[in-house]
Amino acid sequence: MSQRLEAIERARIAILISGRGSNMVALAEATRDGRIPNAEISVVISDQRNALGLARAKALGIETLVIGRSGTREEHDHEILAALRSRKIDLVCLAGYMRVLSREFVEAYPDRILNIHPSLLPAFPGLDAQRQALEGGAEYTGCTVHFVDEILDGGRILRQSRVEIQPDDTIETLSDRILLEEHKIYPEVVSLVLGNMAESSSDG
Ligand code: GRF
Repeated sequence: MSQRLEAIERARIAILISGRGSNMVALAEATRDGRIPNAEISVVISDQRNALGLARAKALGIETLVIGRSGTREEHDHEILAALRSRKIDLVCLAGYMRVLSREFVEAYPDRILNIHPSLLPAFPGLDAQRQALEGGAEYTGCTVHFVDEILDGGRILRQSRVEIQPDDTIETLSDRILLEEHKIYPEVVSLVLGNMAESSSDG
């Protein structure tokens, strides 16, 4: 009986990637070691067939799907939404997913889509955030976990972590230090958001 209850209450997370997938691995590990309790990564979806993260997800025993960018953004998102709905996904985490979501997608999961970005938003949105910080002469940058809306890197900010820029930093060294912070704060925020979701569903 209690086992059944646990199974029903387990949150189902989908992660969307386009590349390496290190944040995906960080989230998967956190669901397994209890830092994100009562949750599982149910599926990893990539829009890129050759994404390294796909192999990493498979190695972790997670279902993977490639949904290529055929057709319009709306058609593409429609296909992804169908995959999410058929798997009864509760929360969507973007982790290096390189396509802006359509209105239909965002509205289908209000406050249920998260993203991680390698800067202290609203500074340095969009591509090459670490390069923007270095070339802009910033003294520090960092990373941000935020809800996703239709505006690129524009949704409500949930958590940020600051990283100092060293005089001898290259894009690679800076990106590596930011990534360490990403791997810490993303699981923390997912755990908090799921906790809030569970609370609000038990309120009603
Ligand atoms: C990370 O820097 C993330 O902040 C950005 O894309 C990169 C993805 O890295 N959105 P990975 O695929 O999680 O290793």
